[in-house]
Amino acid sequence: MKRNIPISLPVTGEEEWQATREPLMTGWLTSGPKVREFEQLFAQRHQVKHALAVTSATTALHLALVALGVGPGDEVVVPAFTWVSTANVVEYCGAKVVLVDVNPETFNIDPADLRRRITPRTRAIIPVHLFGLCADMDAIRAIAGDIPLVEDGACAAGAAYRDVPAGGLGAIGCFSFHPRKSITTGEGGMVTTNDDRLAEVIGMLRNHGASVSEEQRHLGPRPYILPEFNMLGYNYRMTDLQGAVGVVQMKKLDTFIDERDRWAKYYNQELAEISWLRTPSHTPAYRHGWQSYVTLVDQAKAPMARNEIMEQLQAQGISTRPGTHAVHMLAYYRNKYKLKPSDYPGAQIANDCSMAIPLHNRMSAEDYQYVVNAIKALG
Ligand SMILES: Cc1ncc(COP(=O)(O)O)c(C=O)c1O
Repeated sequence: MKRNIPISLPVTGEEEWQATREPLMTGWLTSGPKVREFEQLFAQRHQVKHALAVTSATTALHLALVALGVGPGDEVVVPAFTWVSTANVVEYCGAKVVLVDVNPETFNIDPADLRRRITPRTRAIIPVHLFGLCADMDAIRAIAGDIPLVEDGACAAGAAYRDVPAGGLGAIGCFSFHPRKSITTGEGGMVTTNDDRLAEVIGMLRNHGASVSEEQRHLGPRPYILPEFNMLGYNYRMTDLQGAVGVVQMKKLDTFIDERDRWAKYYNQELAEISWLRTPSHTPAYRHGWQSYVTLVDQAKAPMARNEIMEQLQAQGISTRPGTHAVHMLAYYRNKYKLKPSDYPGAQIANDCSMAIPLHNRMSAEDYQYVVNAIKALG
C-alpha cells in the first residue's frame, strides 16, 4: 500500500501545547522566565557558559558577526555548500563573502581549500556543521590561527566533535529551531559562547542595544528606570511562548537524536549494497546530530538522473530533497561575485547529486522499510 512519508515532521503535541499555557495566562509573552529556562538547559547540555535565545539561526549568525566587529572592508569565509543565510549575514554587515569549497564526502569545509582562501582581511570563518555532522574543527582551527570561528550549528543541536559539544568549538555558536531541525520552537535560534564580553554585547544587540533586558525593564526592582542604548541593536528577541516550547523540546533532544542515529545506521546497512548511492559519512568519534540523512547519487552509475530518482520516489509517497544549495550557483552570489559552477567543484557535486531521504521522529519501522525497498527497487 502506498505510504505518505514527508521529508521531516516535528514532534510537538500535548506537552508543548500545555507549556504555552503559563505565558498565555500570566500575560508575559515576550522574552522572560521561559526563555531564560530554555537558555539554561541549552547551555548546560552544550557545556557552554552562555546561551542567548534569538529569533532564528540567521539572526544568531548576524549578531555573531556584529559582535565580532565585522564590517565593510572585511572578508568572512563561508562554505560554498550551505543554506544561503550563512552567506547572507556577511552581506548584512557590508563585508565580503569569501566562499570555500566543501568535501562532497562530508558536505563540510575542505580544510585544504580553506588555507587558500584566507587573506589579511579575513575577519571571521563560519564552519558549518552541515546536516548535524561537525566540521573538522581541529584542522580548521590549525589553519585559522587567531581568526575567530563562528560555528553555524543550525543543524547541529546536540551534536559533538570528539568529546566537545557543538556550540563550544569556536568563539561563538549559532543554532536553529526551525521545524525541520531536530528540536523546534516554530522559528527560533540560539547563540552560544564562553566569552563573557561577547555574551554581554550579544545580549544587548538582540534587544535594540538596550542595557537591560525586558524583564529587568518591566519587572526589575526599579522598573521606572529607562535603559541606556549604547549601540545600534535589533529586535531579535525570542518570545516566552517559544521559550516554553523550547524547554519541553530540549528535554527530548537526546532521545530524538538517539532514535535518528539508530535509523541512520539501519539505512547505512540496508543501502550499502546500492552501488550508485553513497550513504552519509559518519565519523564514529563525533556525535552526529542527524538533522537530515543526506545521500549522494553517483550519476555515472545511477539508473537515472538524481531529479528523476526524486520524482520516482515522490510518486510512491516518499519526499526527498536536495541536501541544500551551492551558494555560488544562486543568482545573487553568481552575479555579484561573477562565479561559475566549476569554481567550487565539491559544492557543485553536492548541489547536483545530494539527496536527503526521510529521517525523523514521526516515522515508523514500516516507513523506513518502505523507503529502503523503494530505493532498492529503482535498480
Ligand atoms: C546550515 C544552516 N544555516 C543557517 C540556517 C538558517 O536557520 P534559520 O531558518 O533558523 O534562520 C539553516 C536553516 O536551514 C541552515 O541549514
